Amino acid sequence: MRCTPVRDAGHGADPTTLVPPRTLLPLAVMGLTAMSNRFEDVAAVVTGGASGNGRAIATRLASEGASVTIADVREDPRLGGTPTHERITQRGGEAQFVECDVQSIGDIRDTVARTVDAFGSLDVMVNNAGIDRKLPVEDVSLDDFESLCGINLNGVYFGCQAAIDVMRDQPDGGCIINISSIAGLYGFRDTSMYCATKGGVTNLTKALAVEVAADGIRVNAINPGIIETAATVEDEDTADEFADAVPLGRIGQPEDVGNVAAFLASEDASYVTGHNLVVDGGIVASPT
Ligand SMILES: NC(=O)c1ccc[n+]([C@@H]2O[C@H](COP(=O)([O-])OP(=O)(O)OC[C@H]3O[C@@H](n4cnc5c(N)ncnc54)[C@H](O)[C@@H]3O)[C@@H](O)[C@H]2O)c1
Repeated sequence: MRCTPVRDAGHGADPTTLVPPRTLLPLAVMGLTAMSNRFEDVAAVVTGGASGNGRAIATRLASEGASVTIADVREDPRLGGTPTHERITQRGGEAQFVECDVQSIGDIRDTVARTVDAFGSLDVMVNNAGIDRKLPVEDVSLDDFESLCGINLNGVYFGCQAAIDVMRDQPDGGCIINISSIAGLYGFRDTSMYCATKGGVTNLTKALAVEVAADGIRVNAINPGIIETAATVEDEDTADEFADAVPLGRIGQPEDVGNVAAFLASEDASYVTGHNLVVDGGIVASPT
């Protein structure tokens, strides 16, 4: 496979504001690590790349040489700042924005095709777009359920399918990274819909890893805990709700997810497939 910044988190909030005084952000989250070109000649798609985790993943891959398509329903980051593709190109990287609603198979396929057209291949597919929804089970309608599935599960499934179609014909295969959640591994109150979609992402990652391994395609998932994005500070107040439950003593930053995505996309992970990698500061390791 032709297939490593991170201050200027750029997702709006000051990453130091949620950090307890005794806890320092690691250098890799502060953007102070030395960069390499290990993703030179790598073409990547990041769905939901305009904001939050997707923005950090796209920025990280591009900082190490990847050409990146930002596939999103919006260009502007939800918490403000320069659009991701513009931020990348301003820093000398290569990126394009493609309007894409992952509920549409046509949009996903068009995004993949435009990536191959622009960059010559599709080496890394990051199926990140997703939304949170908390609702007690008794209040869930079929419309609620289907609309959440349409983004969080169908979007990932058909993102994998579109990527596999291209990667199978590439001599070096490719790498797929699905963004699940710790809610795809464990249950949380009033979160049955979200847990169902993320559980689906967790296990479809394993199933597809087995199915396409012989094609040279690795399929892995990242299972973030509480990451400071619009989803946790605006849509749901989960950042505050769970802050005290993080053994490492701080809420995660999108760059924590970006760092792990870069690892999974890299040759360092060439023997890793079908894995769900928990990035949660220790939440699910703790019995409390
Ligand atoms: N923030 C967390 O604590 C956390 C924890 C676990 C998992 N996740 C997962 O990380 C992923 C990203 O979430 P985030 O926290 O960065 O959220 P976010 O709201 O900051 O960003 C999500 C991005 O996805 C885009 N998007 C939404 N619907 C879309 C659609 N139909 N098609 C294309 N793009 C769409 C939005 O426009 C936005 O730019 C999601 O899959 C989420 O479930 C987040």
